Amino acid sequence: MDKLLIEGGARLSGEVAISGAKNAALPILCAALLTAEPVIFTNVPQLKDIGTLLALLGQMGVKVERAGDTVTLDASGLNNPVAPYEMVKTMRASILVLGPLVARCGEARVSLPGGCAIGARPVDQHIKGLQAMGAEVRVEHGYVHATVPRLKGARLFTDMVTVTGTENLMMAAVLADGETVIENAAREPEVVDLANCLVAMGAQISGAGSDVIRIRGVERLHGATHRIMPDRIETGTYLCAAAVTGGSVRLTGTSSCYLDAVIDKLMDAGCEVVSERDAISLSAPARLNAVSLRTAPYPAFPTDMQAQFMAINCVANGVAMIRETIFENRFMHAVELQRLGADIRIDGNTAVVQGVARLEGATVMATDLRASASLVVAGLVAEGETTIERIYHLDRGYERLEDKLAALGAKVRRLT
Ligand code: EPZ
Repeated sequence: MDKLLIEGGARLSGEVAISGAKNAALPILCAALLTAEPVIFTNVPQLKDIGTLLALLGQMGVKVERAGDTVTLDASGLNNPVAPYEMVKTMRASILVLGPLVARCGEARVSLPGGCAIGARPVDQHIKGLQAMGAEVRVEHGYVHATVPRLKGARLFTDMVTVTGTENLMMAAVLADGETVIENAAREPEVVDLANCLVAMGAQISGAGSDVIRIRGVERLHGATHRIMPDRIETGTYLCAAAVTGGSVRLTGTSSCYLDAVIDKLMDAGCEVVSERDAISLSAPARLNAVSLRTAPYPAFPTDMQAQFMAINCVANGVAMIRETIFENRFMHAVELQRLGADIRIDGNTAVVQGVARLEGATVMATDLRASASLVVAGLVAEGETTIERIYHLDRGYERLEDKLAALGAKVRRLT
């Protein structure tokens, strides 16, 4: 298994380009299932998760062409509305094929994704919504089996804000008979990017970005070209890497407009942030102030940035309280940060981080995507060498991580 070796202490400086958003690309690539015409996607990040999804779509009969960051999908030959366990178990976001398959084919057999390191992550809201739209859904032998001649528009209310739940139900609704209203919808920018792509394909959607999304079903969708939005979590991760090293960086191909909560916290920590139309610059003091935070659905502080902020708080002045309200087990990076010398106490879904003078390099293990990012951030400032094992987690969500960090002056190399 690959490892990452980081020699801490370098102040990050310089400029890197941010890639397309993983969590926008995953649902948007699934939207190609909704039409028999080719759909062209640009700014698609070259990530393990994207490769996994394209393989899954390919075995359904979708023609996949890829050239750099451009992907062309042609689902005219879609003939196998099945997402098998062997493929779904490696990437739970595969559940996003469920809504489009039921809408386009009238049936789908999708393996239950199962939990993951950060939580049980059930998909009951996805199923409840499809049932409300008239689908007969059976969960048996670890698969969701949904059938319906044609989905009917309905008024849907999700028990909690669910990002992929909202995305699945929005995709199911675009070909349904009549109007669907999704209440308590997720407001994440990735939901809006998906809605924009669906509208470009001929869907009739209003309210995306608010907590009430209205979809008027149409007979069919047509082909389109769509550019994936920038990855706001990759952006936030590099801002944290620069902040913790007292660095000064400029991130291009991205925007601050989806990161207000994160940028507010970085400014509270003592950083200066300058936003341009499609770039963000940050410069940081030698040592940050501790910042407390509480994760919540967009536009509040994103749970996907919690681990990275725990890392920067480890060597900040003062004490930070971090509350994780979205997932029940998203503090696994804490024990690894403690191996680097961090002072963290966990009490249920709250972590208390007391800033220490310095972290010391050690061997640590990645457990999930954002926990891995947190260990990279900590390794950049820890004294000596940090070795991060199981970095396949990182490769799922960060394109060419070591190249981009090295371009900013970090001493990092991958051991294969
Ligand atoms: C999406 O996951 C993201 N993944 C996650 O990013 C992100 O952390 C999460 O949203 C929250 O922002 C993708 O977009 C591919 P949820 P998702 O449904 O949709 C519970 C990363 O690191 N819930 O919004 O799976 C659920 O257990 C990943 O890039 C149900 O109980 O998250 C959780 O506690 C990690 N039943 C809460 O809701 C359901 O049917 C929010 O989950 C659905 C969700």
